[in-house]
Amino acid sequence: MFTGKRVLLIVSGGIAAYKSLDLVRRLRERGAAVRCILTKAGAEFVTPLSLSALTEDKVYGELFSLTDEAEMGHIQLSRDADLLVVAPASADLLAKMAQGRADDLASTALLATDKAVLAAPAMNVRMWEHPATQANLALLKERGVLTVGPNEGDMACGEYGFGRMAEPMEILAAIEEALAASPAAASGGGPSLNRPLAGLRALVTSGPTHEPIDPVRYIANRSSGRQGHAIAAALARQGAETTLVSGPSQLPDPAGLKTLHVETAEEMLAACQTSLPVEIAVCAAAVADWRSVARAQQKMKKNGAPASLELTANPDILAELSKAGDLRPSLVIGFAAETENVVAQAQEKLARKGCDWILANDVAPASGTFGGENNQINLIRAEGVEPWPQMTKLAVAERLCREIAATLGR
Ligand code: CTP
Repeated sequence: MFTGKRVLLIVSGGIAAYKSLDLVRRLRERGAAVRCILTKAGAEFVTPLSLSALTEDKVYGELFSLTDEAEMGHIQLSRDADLLVVAPASADLLAKMAQGRADDLASTALLATDKAVLAAPAMNVRMWEHPATQANLALLKERGVLTVGPNEGDMACGEYGFGRMAEPMEILAAIEEALAASPAAASGGGPSLNRPLAGLRALVTSGPTHEPIDPVRYIANRSSGRQGHAIAAALARQGAETTLVSGPSQLPDPAGLKTLHVETAEEMLAACQTSLPVEIAVCAAAVADWRSVARAQQKMKKNGAPASLELTANPDILAELSKAGDLRPSLVIGFAAETENVVAQAQEKLARKGCDWILANDVAPASGTFGGENNQINLIRAEGVEPWPQMTKLAVAERLCREIAATLGR
């Protein structure tokens, strides 16, 4: 996949540095040549020896090393690669990059390079959320630095939130995307990277919808948006021009695609309709089936609670896309979130909504699907049912893309 590609991996300080060892291994398995710069802080977490053994190359650390400079100057080091990957990218290194500082080998290489840079931030959640970090990141993105992650989850420091470095497989996917997009890599004469959905357009709905009752209360479904966001990112990585229509979600907008933010089902439908025509539509949103007929302009007081809440049905976005006439996507795919009789109910849903495929998943509380990392899917088509093994939501996204590519003759 990466045969002939050269990656300069910069490992800065952070507990996530151990994942970078795995990243090196996976890059090498796929044919990339990897050269490493290890910062002083990074060397507190992984050793030069481990990186050197995995890269089968020397590891660079010193800016003013006479031997290193004689063999390969720091400018050449930064230009010799097709792509610079900073993983983990600490808050400190991101700050240095934003300021254009060059007081060690890593920051100097990042300032001197003429190649694309992909950063995988990793830090404590408060450091991540700090306006200084967010401002640095915004500036770097504006200058064209690509990013992947961070993810949400438990942190080594005991806190919870965004700040966990993206997993090696996610970074690999982002590297593939960056190499495909970078003119330096494209002109490098290497084999064309695998983007089977190039030339196609895709639309994905994700997350819950919030249906307001008053300014502070709403009806919603349990949904993190993880599966839908992962599918949108995977479609984009495979080359599809992708629009993600997302309900309220804690997840960051995936790289490499257009994200439209909506709150209600009606807004989601409108955003989907304006995004047509597309060839591929995947409805992964947990749309609230009903909305309140009345929407109080002021917060309803506890003592003045209504005796009942009158509800009305929301539009069914999957069904609407399936009967969009001339604008119907070639492949309309939905999910069926069920807590019992999963396959039978999903087959009924396929027929009722008029879509082409349904990915049926068990969302009974014991399954851990909602908010969790994993999903167990049955792919339901008119021709039959294909059970998939339990896998991560990222793996589900990748497998779905492969099925889509195969079906569309890619
Ligand atoms: N869906 C949609 N718009 C809605 C409701 C659901 O687009 N208003 C889509 C979902 O994104 C999913 C599929 O329809 O792809 C099935 O969602 P699910 O909640 O399982 O089904 P419901 O239509 O709500 O049916 P039921 O309540 O009978 O299970």
